[in-house]
Amino acid sequence: MTPDLPADPLASRPTSPVTTPHVTLAHISDPHLPPPPVHWRAALNKRALSLLSWKKHRQYVHLAQTCAALVKDIGHTGVDTILVSGDLTNFGTPDEFAEAARWLEALPAPALVIPGNHDCMVRQPASVGLSQWEHWSARQYPYVRIQNGIAIVGVNSGIPTAPFMAYGRVGRRQRERLEALLEHLGQEGLCRVVMIHHPPKRGLVPWRKSLLDHREVAALLRRTGAEIVLHGHSHDATLTHIAGTDIPLLGVASASLTDERPHRQACWNHLTIHPYEGGWHIDLARHRLDGSVSERASWKRSRQERSGRKQAGRTDA
Ligand SMILES: [Fe+2]
Repeated sequence: MTPDLPADPLASRPTSPVTTPHVTLAHISDPHLPPPPVHWRAALNKRALSLLSWKKHRQYVHLAQTCAALVKDIGHTGVDTILVSGDLTNFGTPDEFAEAARWLEALPAPALVIPGNHDCMVRQPASVGLSQWEHWSARQYPYVRIQNGIAIVGVNSGIPTAPFMAYGRVGRRQRERLEALLEHLGQEGLCRVVMIHHPPKRGLVPWRKSLLDHREVAALLRRTGAEIVLHGHSHDATLTHIAGTDIPLLGVASASLTDERPHRQACWNHLTIHPYEGGWHIDLARHRLDGSVSERASWKRSRQERSGRKQAGRTDA
């Protein structure tokens, strides 16, 4: 994997678009790793409610062994990169960030990560929070990492919220950078895989958990195009598209959740991206914990088309 594009990603020249037969990605989200003990001083804020919720309920359904089984299955497939779309922590404490960094380091393939709302629960210095994940992300969002002609674009939608709220926002400055970045990567002929915690679409989560500027984010994606958008947060294995486009919008259940409802049960998305002369074929196999496949889909994404609105649509496999 190439390192982060330097200081100004828009000024750099990415690598040649087609260099290998295909690239494989594992997309997982919301592992909510078991937290180390939380000091009472660290919980004198919104964390207190989340701590209560963890002790009463969440610790019994977000299971470390479930997440470990899922990661083991990913390891068997030998993917090139693992994408983690946020909520690795429960309260976003410095100790949880450190624990999550150790977990990222131990994953069976190089990982890229973005934060979720739980990781951004309270304001704190980056040095004890997000900077601890810089090795698997970047100092600034949005970021881009390029691997064999595939551009992974990480967006940060996590913001501190009022109690009982879990909404997110990309914000004007990040949206402006994202639009310029996607435009640039599209001109370079790269396959653009966008990763964002909150789904940029209405209806996938209740309002209190929604992306406040989902309309603006969807509008910029309509203008720039993108080959696929991955999200977490909903804890749901969904497959929709960005409004007004054929850009696939792919959700995934929590990597640690044990739930009787099949669409909520822990799973991961296995994506294979095959370049062809005019663009990319993207194949999805959604893996259950035992390695079996619960859902398949494939898309043909054309490089020539600059507008996401007109890109080739989904064909179910
Ligand atoms: Fe979340």
